[in-house]
Amino acid sequence: MKNTTGWCVDAEYRLYAALFFFLLHFLLCGASKVMNLESNVYILKRLIRLRMSISIRPPSHINRRLFRPVKIVKSQLSRGSVGLDENAMQRDWDARAKENPMYYIDTDKKDWDIEEFYASGSLYVYDLVPQALERTGFDPKGKRILEIGCGMGRFFPAFADFFDEIWGIDISPEMIRLGKAHCPVKDAKFMLGNGEDLSEISASSIDCCFSYIVFRHIPKKSLLWQYLAEIYRVLAPGGVFQLHFHSSEPIKLKVYSSIPRSLISVVAPVYHRAYLKLVHGESMEIPGSLSTWYGNAVSPREVERRLSGLGFKNVEILPDSTHAPGENFWAIGVK
Ligand SMILES: C[S@@+](CC[C@H](N)C(=O)[O-])C[C@H]1O[C@@H](n2cnc3c(N)ncnc32)[C@H](O)[C@@H]1O
Repeated sequence: MKNTTGWCVDAEYRLYAALFFFLLHFLLCGASKVMNLESNVYILKRLIRLRMSISIRPPSHINRRLFRPVKIVKSQLSRGSVGLDENAMQRDWDARAKENPMYYIDTDKKDWDIEEFYASGSLYVYDLVPQALERTGFDPKGKRILEIGCGMGRFFPAFADFFDEIWGIDISPEMIRLGKAHCPVKDAKFMLGNGEDLSEISASSIDCCFSYIVFRHIPKKSLLWQYLAEIYRVLAPGGVFQLHFHSSEPIKLKVYSSIPRSLISVVAPVYHRAYLKLVHGESMEIPGSLSTWYGNAVSPREVERRLSGLGFKNVEILPDSTHAPGENFWAIGVK
């Protein structure tokens, strides 16, 4: 719909909404409490991209999608283990796997083509893995890699270029089913895990442990530390790990934590919807609890201390280039 000046009303609406929520974001974050310049610059960039990609749609579309009655219930905003039962991680991830598995694995696209999806794994592996192998001085030939939170095994085809045996473990039975059905590496071993440990895997049986965008979704830090101890147990002496962590609280949860409790059920769902719309550029109704999506945040120092405390050697923290600067980091090291 166009107004008399020819300017798209929807476009104007989006622009004003973008500016309004960017200002709201600053206000709610509270400059002194959680100011994170890089994150805010990232949001601003996304908003500018949104502004550039304005489409011509009736303004009612935005009204409906951004401000329609909110589906998120207060319990979805719980953090840590509060309000979560012990099966929440599995139930939520399985629901995501049933609804749109490739999207919840990689939210860059809602309608992945399966071949393109598996091809995208190679881009990541070639970007991420060789430098870790080089830094740890590890030769993957003839070795076995285990991916924790492997999803549908999108990294497996590229892992197979380096390693001889590919194992993956995941908490979601549906992800495992889809991986077995579609992963091009037919002799890869997909295992269903309990999401808390690696009890299916015997001690010292793995040469390399890898995990990407999984630990960040785990709602309890204690489970994360349990996984690290398990990784130490299953790695063979001289084995290496490359693990991805979320380094700071997601902006949105920071915002929630700065809202008075009495207002949270009113403000948070609107902010949540607006944040996803503006930052991710689309609506996103995440199945399950937000706690199993937004998970936890840990400091690189804390992770390094834990890993060294377990007995790992040459522990290094490396930046992650796949998300906004400073949002995540890698830890690598040797048993
Ligand atoms: C964002 S996807 C990433 C999948 C894969 N790493 C990739 O990048 O293609 C997160 C995966 O971790 C799994 N997951 C979530 N929590 C887990 C847990 N506690 N233990 C094992 N897997 C988990 C989910 O089922 C999902 O397949």
